[in-house]
Amino acid sequence: MRDDPGGGALHLMTRVAQEVGAQLLDRFETVKFIPRTEKTAGDFVSDADLTAERMIRDRLQGAHPGIGWLGEETGASGDPNGLRWIVDPLDGTTNFLHGLPHWAVSIALAQGDRVIAGVVHDPFKSETFTAGAGTGAYLNGAPMRVSQDVPLSHALLATGVPAGGRVTYLSHSMRDIEGLMPDCAGIRRWGAATLDLAYVAAGRIDAYWERNLGPWDVAAGLLLVTEAGGDMRPLWPGQSVLETGSFLASNADLGPLLAPRLCDLRDSA
Ligand code: IPD
Ligand code: CA
Ligand code: CA
Ligand code: CA
Repeated sequence: MRDDPGGGALHLMTRVAQEVGAQLLDRFETVKFIPRTEKTAGDFVSDADLTAERMIRDRLQGAHPGIGWLGEETGASGDPNGLRWIVDPLDGTTNFLHGLPHWAVSIALAQGDRVIAGVVHDPFKSETFTAGAGTGAYLNGAPMRVSQDVPLSHALLATGVPAGGRVTYLSHSMRDIEGLMPDCAGIRRWGAATLDLAYVAAGRIDAYWERNLGPWDVAAGLLLVTEAGGDMRPLWPGQSVLETGSFLASNADLGPLLAPRLCDLRDSA
């Protein structure tokens, strides 16, 4: 682990994401009976989120007690500048609780702000997206790459309006969509940030942007995108994507083209 923290951990992270994903899939069959509350307006937490995070935490910290933790549901412990797991146990909770089969488990290992390894697992579609720093990005073990040579008029984009600050950021999103929609092939809003990032990495969509997400939404996916040859840039210049959760992820060509058209960068130019 000390000599190869990313590579050694990736097997364990993948296994844990798949095991916990299988448990979530079982619960998805009877989802309407799962107890839930709202953390803030539109940000649900259910017994499935809490159980999944507890299982992941037990498995990862049981194997490596010295590594710190940052999880959506249980918060942070350990040195934020050291090695830590960054975990979203169930990304797309609102989809999950409505019976929509579009949600995932996301696990990253980071050294401070630098992500070393990442896994996004979609149990419903049996798709596991993995990446290690410097070792490429894979879908179910096969190398994946971002899209190439897609003119904006053929590009399929995605975005999201975060649960946290959705009133603040709604007007930004509306302005972006209004400006871009006439010029691209379409803009999706799927409701699972980790899968949006994984889909950019797999070349299924050409770009995705969102604001004010948590580090657990972004950590694994950002490594998938960069290791798949993509472009990941902050929407708030000079600030870390992991800290602000505000970014544009795209294939290599579209980043420079789209960035000045998103309102944060347009307004700050
Ligand atoms: C949410 C999803 C969604 C994004 C929200 C996130 P959660 O994560 O990723 O796509 O728009 O802001 O909070 O709460 O379902 O893990
Ligand atoms: Ca949540
Ligand atoms: Ca999330
Ligand atoms: Ca979550």
